[in-house]
Amino acid sequence: PSISPWGGRFHETPDILFRRFSESVSFDQRLYRHDILGSIAHATMLHEAGLLGAEEREEIVRGLEAIQEEIAKGVFPWSTDWEDLHMNIERALIARTPCGAKLHTGRSRNDQVATALRLWVKEEIDSDREAIRAVQSALVDWAERDVDVLIPGYTHLQRAQPVLLAHHLLAYVEMLSRDSDRLREGRKRADVLPLGSGALAGSTLPLDRHRVAELLHFSQVARNSMDAVSDRDFVVEYLASLALLGTHLSRFAEDLILWSSSEFGLASLPEGFTTGSSLMPQKKNPDALELVRGKTGRLSGNLLSILILLKGLPLTYNRDLQEDKEALFDSADTALGCLRILAALIPGVVVHRDRCEQAASDPMLLATDLVDWLVNHGMAFREAHHAVGRLVALAESREVSLAELPAEDVAPLHPKLPSEWNEIWSPRAAIERRQTEGSSRPIFVRAEIERWRRELRSA
Ligand code: ARG
Repeated sequence: PSISPWGGRFHETPDILFRRFSESVSFDQRLYRHDILGSIAHATMLHEAGLLGAEEREEIVRGLEAIQEEIAKGVFPWSTDWEDLHMNIERALIARTPCGAKLHTGRSRNDQVATALRLWVKEEIDSDREAIRAVQSALVDWAERDVDVLIPGYTHLQRAQPVLLAHHLLAYVEMLSRDSDRLREGRKRADVLPLGSGALAGSTLPLDRHRVAELLHFSQVARNSMDAVSDRDFVVEYLASLALLGTHLSRFAEDLILWSSSEFGLASLPEGFTTGSSLMPQKKNPDALELVRGKTGRLSGNLLSILILLKGLPLTYNRDLQEDKEALFDSADTALGCLRILAALIPGVVVHRDRCEQAASDPMLLATDLVDWLVNHGMAFREAHHAVGRLVALAESREVSLAELPAEDVAPLHPKLPSEWNEIWSPRAAIERRQTEGSSRPIFVRAEIERWRRELRSA
């Protein structure tokens, strides 16, 4: 028997070198559940359309379920002689029951693979959003645990103004929430059924596409058969969402790496997620976080691969499209792996409260508050900024802190300033002074923690 299902037209079998080059079964077999789901729905619809007997449908479904079990158990005889998972499964089905030869009625691998891939992406998005939620919850727990801890906020990696550590952590909860929304949005566009498009032009057979959509829980059927078999926008959107998610996770990892360094000393990482050195006995290295930072680079790379893969393709299906899978699977696995590591690591982070307090108490962090004080007492902002800048320079030249400047140096700015001088330099009082919505004022931050709690619970 011919080893290919298109053998009728050929005199020769595919060259062995080409077979090895073109096979995808070694990696697309992970779509088996989704492929079989699609086949069962297709068979059910064929039966309802009068194209398959009741018995035949039964046999096909039973056969596919048995194959699925074999695959799950790891005993299915995958073979690269049959280039992809679709042909491996169909061949095994036909070997079990001759009516398996009717399963592919009105179907092409082009609409078949697009269907399996969409089912897979939809499911994966649900897992990703779940995993994102777990990281968000871990961050909110941490924010609550250390809700009274102040740290320096940074710009340009230079100390800028005091903030609550919780405020910094909730910034990442915001980013992750946008990531989750983007995935949910993209899922809508993955939620469209290609099956029934055939190779590209539809079918002369009375296939009921809406019935298949209903059976597979797709909310729409693709409106254009040519678009349906060549569209991989949903892959691009998914990979783009993961790339941006990865960017956020990488920035978070970098923040934690900095905080846990001796130079910052704001926090310690749980030992279970760090490594020692084979040479230097004192070392405790943040490898888990470095790998999050490193691996997330692949998410951007995979997005670019697919964009480049697609950009020169004429309509409709081209075999190039088979190359969509490895990048897709790699991004899905990498993203989920990073999310799970972070959700596990975050609860073990220990904050060094003394060190945070000390770092946040640097009076320089409140130079802006001094400017605001002067503005509140009638000075023009630019003038106040300049005057405080001179005080900073003065303190620096005398090697004292801003708070230590004597009354005679500050009195010229405003007669009331010396008497209120000391109050200005309390970082706690300073964050309590924040008025604006979205700032690091403790009551706002606590309210945000509560809001996120409710939101994450109801999601
Ligand atoms: N393995 C192929 C893929 O992943 C399935 C579709 C093959 N279609 C074809 N006309 N050769 O894209």
